[in-house]
Amino acid sequence: MSHLLSRAFSLDDVARIAQRKLPRSIYDFYSGGAENEITMDANRRAFEELALVPRILRGVQPNTQQVILGTASSLPLVIAPMGAVGYGCRDGDVALAKAAASAGIPYVLSTTATTSIERVAEEAGGNLWFQLYTLRRREVTMRLLERAKAAGYGVLVVTADVPVGGKRERDLRNDFSMPFRFTARNMAVFASRPSWALGMLIRGIPTMPNLTEMAGHDSLPVDAAASVGREFDPTFDWEGLKEIRKRWPGKLLLKGLLHPDDAVAAADAGCDGVIVSNHGGRQLDGAVATMRALPGICDMVAHRIEVLLDGGVRRGGDVAKAVALGATAVLVGRPALYGACIAGEAGVEHVLKILNDELVRVMTLCGLSDMASLNRELISRT
Ligand SMILES: Cc1cc2nc3c(=O)[nH]c(=O)nc-3n(C[C@H](O)[C@H](O)[C@H](O)COP(=O)(O)O)c2cc1C
Repeated sequence: MSHLLSRAFSLDDVARIAQRKLPRSIYDFYSGGAENEITMDANRRAFEELALVPRILRGVQPNTQQVILGTASSLPLVIAPMGAVGYGCRDGDVALAKAAASAGIPYVLSTTATTSIERVAEEAGGNLWFQLYTLRRREVTMRLLERAKAAGYGVLVVTADVPVGGKRERDLRNDFSMPFRFTARNMAVFASRPSWALGMLIRGIPTMPNLTEMAGHDSLPVDAAASVGREFDPTFDWEGLKEIRKRWPGKLLLKGLLHPDDAVAAADAGCDGVIVSNHGGRQLDGAVATMRALPGICDMVAHRIEVLLDGGVRRGGDVAKAVALGATAVLVGRPALYGACIAGEAGVEHVLKILNDELVRVMTLCGLSDMASLNRELISRT
């Protein structure tokens, strides 16, 4: 184990170490949220406000396995889709996918990943899901879907909470743009993080091959990565989702909803599940915390489709709380990315091991033998 990892006992430790290693503008881009970051903080607080009510003398040996969308997973855990991973960790998408595969959990590759759909499938394998941003050019969106299908991705995750980019003021202050450009303001990175800056100069600025590879034959602009935000389709609606449902033969998840009626509409549109998410507080600031939205959504649709959740999962106990309130599984975003930035695949494995060990300990302390034994009786609202 790397020296740095041996000092990381919690996911917060992992974040602190990544912060010391990364250029400030990159760490801020990864860790930040929209505007006042109220929703980002609220996601954490919502977990903290739920107290566990343990049962004793049950002599349990917990089994953390969970079936997610029909496939057995060693934990009720999925690595969330994240774009721009290559800025903090070269080949980070492959590192994340490999660590997920060896831990026996699914990995979601982003449309805006810095590694192609095909390369992740070839090099990492495992239970791969693909996250789709719907683009203005319908044929480009459909081509992404076809590529994911051909490369063997079993689950399509359609993200619905980015009709427009969130207002992330850390990025504005840092002059951070995608793709990264060396500007007068961020030139200081050569002094503060010289090896990172040299790596960018020598190996080049990471690209978004899922989009740029299409530039030649699908009339996406050559500077596709630069215009990626503008390429998202703000008019995408329920009819568009039904169209995708017709084209995608595998499991389909809708990500980024917080209202029970939207979860019902997703089930009516043929989705196999929903991901209760506010994009880790990166989009609509002031949006409700995901753990607050979860119970109402489960009440409406958990008997029909699977409900997953993300945003602020930082402890094994958080995983238990979400499952107890009705989630099949949770997605973890930033902590896995920080693990990759510190030590590649080994760093992500370390993060997953911390979560696994904490979950097993919490289940043992609460007298819970398996995922089926987690229910609302575990939770007391403080
Ligand atoms: C750097 C970064 C990039 C992200 N990129 C995407 C993306 O491309 N597609 C997407 O659906 N969600 C994206 N997300 C949101 C995550 O999938 C997830 O909803 C969120 O990070 C979960 O919260 P957490 O980071 O607190 O665990 C991104 C999040 C971060 C931090």
